[in-house]
Amino acid sequence: MDIIAGLQWRYATKKFDDSKRIPQEKIEIITQAFNLTATSYGLQPVRMLVINNKKLQRELVPHAMGQRQVVDASHVLVFCIEKDVKSPYIHDYFDKVRDIRATPEETLAPFRQMLAEKFDAQHKSETLNWARNQAYLAMGNLMTVCALEGIDACPMEGFEPQKFDEVLELADLNIASVLLMPIGYRAEDDMFAGFEKVRRPEKDTVIYR
Ligand SMILES: Cc1cc2nc3c(=O)[nH]c(=O)nc-3n(C[C@H](O)[C@H](O)[C@H](O)COP(=O)(O)O)c2cc1C
Repeated sequence: MDIIAGLQWRYATKKFDDSKRIPQEKIEIITQAFNLTATSYGLQPVRMLVINNKKLQRELVPHAMGQRQVVDASHVLVFCIEKDVKSPYIHDYFDKVRDIRATPEETLAPFRQMLAEKFDAQHKSETLNWARNQAYLAMGNLMTVCALEGIDACPMEGFEPQKFDEVLELADLNIASVLLMPIGYRAEDDMFAGFEKVRRPEKDTVIYR
């Protein structure tokens, strides 16, 4: 599928066919694409839960404003952020750069130091907002990947993150949920699949200089 045809084909799926499952090899394309998503400074303050468990999905529906996509979809992706990005986290990242690229420590040291100090000094809410932006980027990336793979998806902010964190026991992992994306295959009678896209004209949204 070419990219524009894929992006026209995709839509925020309201009704999934609950009898259809995404094959594991496709799930692995999605998980690799998630991990390849670019992030600010390369720090990847994001994690993704892949839920493939109808009982758990059913349990989550009431905490997602009753949105049935959460139970009918083949899988539910939950985009999460790290809650504690401070100097130890930054040092782990730079150790990885040093080991993977064999970069001399003296080359890395100034940037390592600068980021460690920045994240230690900055207010927690600023760091969480920064991490949250990276989660949006990851979800955006996966929306396109899913479209190109012929997988339907519904990006979702409409849920109660604290309830999700409780049910999914995310505090144990020191992460918090930010976004959801049920994925699977559209039901034949999802009327939203046939709706025209509503977008501002490109001349009003794209500016050339
Ligand atoms: C960040 C974000 C959050 C969204 N949250 C929900 C949601 O909770 N439930 C839902 O049905 N659609 C949700 N949507 C889908 C949008 O309403 C939809 O993408 C938009 O109307 C454009 O339609 P299209 O994606 O079908 O082209 C969300 C979309 C985005 C990007």
